[in-house]
Amino acid sequence: MSNRMWGGRFAEGPDAIMEEINASIDYDRKIYKQDIDGSKAHVRMLADRNIVTSDDADKIVQGLDTILSEIDSGNFKFSRALEDIHMNIEARLAELIGPAAGRLHTARSRNDQVATDFRLWVRETLDTLDLQLAELMSALAEKAEAYAGDVMPGFTHLQSAQPVTFGHHLLAYVEMFARDRGRVRDARKRMNECPLGSAALAGTSFPIDRKMTAEALGFDRPTANSLDGVSDRDFVIEALAAASLTAMHLSRLAEEIVVWCSAQFGFVKLSDKFSTGSSIMPQKKNPDAAELVRAKTGRIYGSLQALLVMMKGLPLAYSKDMQEDKEQAFDGLASTSLALAAMTGMVKDLEPVTKAMKKAAGSGYSTATDLADWLVRVLGMPFRDAHHVTGAIVAIAVDRGIELHKVSLAEMQDVEPKITQEVFSVLSVDKSVRSRTSYGGTSPVSVRKQARRWLKELSKI
Ligand code: ARG
Repeated sequence: MSNRMWGGRFAEGPDAIMEEINASIDYDRKIYKQDIDGSKAHVRMLADRNIVTSDDADKIVQGLDTILSEIDSGNFKFSRALEDIHMNIEARLAELIGPAAGRLHTARSRNDQVATDFRLWVRETLDTLDLQLAELMSALAEKAEAYAGDVMPGFTHLQSAQPVTFGHHLLAYVEMFARDRGRVRDARKRMNECPLGSAALAGTSFPIDRKMTAEALGFDRPTANSLDGVSDRDFVIEALAAASLTAMHLSRLAEEIVVWCSAQFGFVKLSDKFSTGSSIMPQKKNPDAAELVRAKTGRIYGSLQALLVMMKGLPLAYSKDMQEDKEQAFDGLASTSLALAAMTGMVKDLEPVTKAMKKAAGSGYSTATDLADWLVRVLGMPFRDAHHVTGAIVAIAVDRGIELHKVSLAEMQDVEPKITQEVFSVLSVDKSVRSRTSYGGTSPVSVRKQARRWLKELSKI
């Protein structure tokens, strides 16, 4: 049998392979609510503009509500032969209310229909990501306030560089996720225009009211160009780009958690709730949640790449290629949401081992910069000379296999005779972090202030 929706000029039905490559119902059924909302807004507008009778519109709305509850309760029979969610719903509407169902598609095409449905879905998903990012930021800022004064090694090149506080380190991620949130909100603002009424590509000769449908669906305004309205997928690509940056940040934090909870570092303990064991090695507790957050990043980038490549060669306006946007976006954005939830759980449960962090902070000559700064501040040495003198003292420590503060005053004076006992006051890690009071620096006072600023900001949501 040829297709009931568009089969007028077709003598034969599709080949089985055609049906398989063409059907999207297996995944686009996910946007059934959005499709029904869009159809209801459309038909109410058609009635308002006297394009359909209010009697028919009422029947259509009632039928759509019935379909909504059928799908909600799992009692809807989806059919691959009907290609996609739009035709599945319309066919069922015809079964339920008869010929009036055929009036719903007046002044509309599946091209503007799907663009509208998908925008509604992406918008909702962006709102969820926005909230989830705020939750993660709160969890990080709370931990940061609690551990504002606990010293850990700060690294560059993954080599001990200078001591920082654990709170400071966590707040660095709060800054990253705040930027991610900004991007999510920005994308939402830009995408909130309604393509419905663009019809197939050129608009319609019916006297529709696009402002009315846009408003009913919570959009700020209708899209201004019908060709763009049906062929734009920027909105989902931008959402995936924002998600990709979020995933990159999540992955860096996940990587740090994996390193921190190794026996060799031992900086943090992960809760049992976010770890797994080994089937052969009884002693193991593995940071699987962190590893999977790190891994999801690949999928999320993959979906962004897939959509960018899929779109790049398409002439205006709609091409069926664009049907491939949904599976990728569903997967990429669901992965982002899951990764955010897992990371928030891990951060909430994370137990820093402050003793181990402090011990590590003192190794690796991490206060060498403090020594150089002391030479500048107290002896008035130019920084470059101070750097050189400090380097020579570090070399003595390396030679003897001892920490910097264990080098004797006499040995230091061999390098620079003007050094006094007072120098030892800057060589402890606590003194080092406390001295870094510059704006944005790691001093516990500044970290506490920043953590509280974030918590206050986040409590406004
Ligand atoms: N399932 C299609 C999609 O997701 C709906 C639009 C179909 N439009 C068309 N002209 N064939 O893109």
